[in-house]
Amino acid sequence: MKRIAFLVSGSGTNMENLIKRIRSGEILADPVIAISNKPGVKALEKAAALGVKTIVIDHKTYAEREAFDKALGECLEKHKVDFVVLAGFMRVLTEGFVKKYYGRLINIHPAFLPAFPGAHAIKDAWDAKVKETGVTVHFVDSGVDTGPVILQRKVPVLSNDTLETLEARIHSLEYEIYPQALNLVVAGKIKP
Ligand code: GAR
Repeated sequence: MKRIAFLVSGSGTNMENLIKRIRSGEILADPVIAISNKPGVKALEKAAALGVKTIVIDHKTYAEREAFDKALGECLEKHKVDFVVLAGFMRVLTEGFVKKYYGRLINIHPAFLPAFPGAHAIKDAWDAKVKETGVTVHFVDSGVDTGPVILQRKVPVLSNDTLETLEARIHSLEYEIYPQALNLVVAGKIKP
């Protein structure tokens, strides 16, 4: 069974959905650890409640990105992790780290990439008054929200949408496509 680490920074709803689907047998994987770069976030509570070991590697205690990524890499090795799943992990990883895990490191982004990369994709799409946006799951490369697409779906912006209703539809679609994408990746059915 492939061993999964989740990297999180916030509310952890995507991670929670993935762990539940692993527990129900829908995804064949072993969720061995959830690592947060921030202490006290909701994602840590959610992982613990689902019986997944949690670790905080606080980025503020590392002077450089390289040192943080080294600690992260050591933790992943210690736990013999096969695949690394970013779920609302809001740190850019260094090129060395990304190279080592290339093809085994995936991310979800709440936009139809390459449109609206970055930390505020839903708001950026809303402010740009686009007619459609979307959701993307992709292999992580050394760019920000770049890398080969695994699955991608469009979400129309409706005339009666508010930012909140659009956000809700995007998140529901995330909860649908991230499990599908993770299944493809852990089964070796898709590679970058
Ligand atoms: C998700 O919408 C995810 O797509 C987004 O952060 C949210 C995390 O929510 N990620 C990015 O914007 C990455 N650039 P969650 O912690 O509840 O899963």
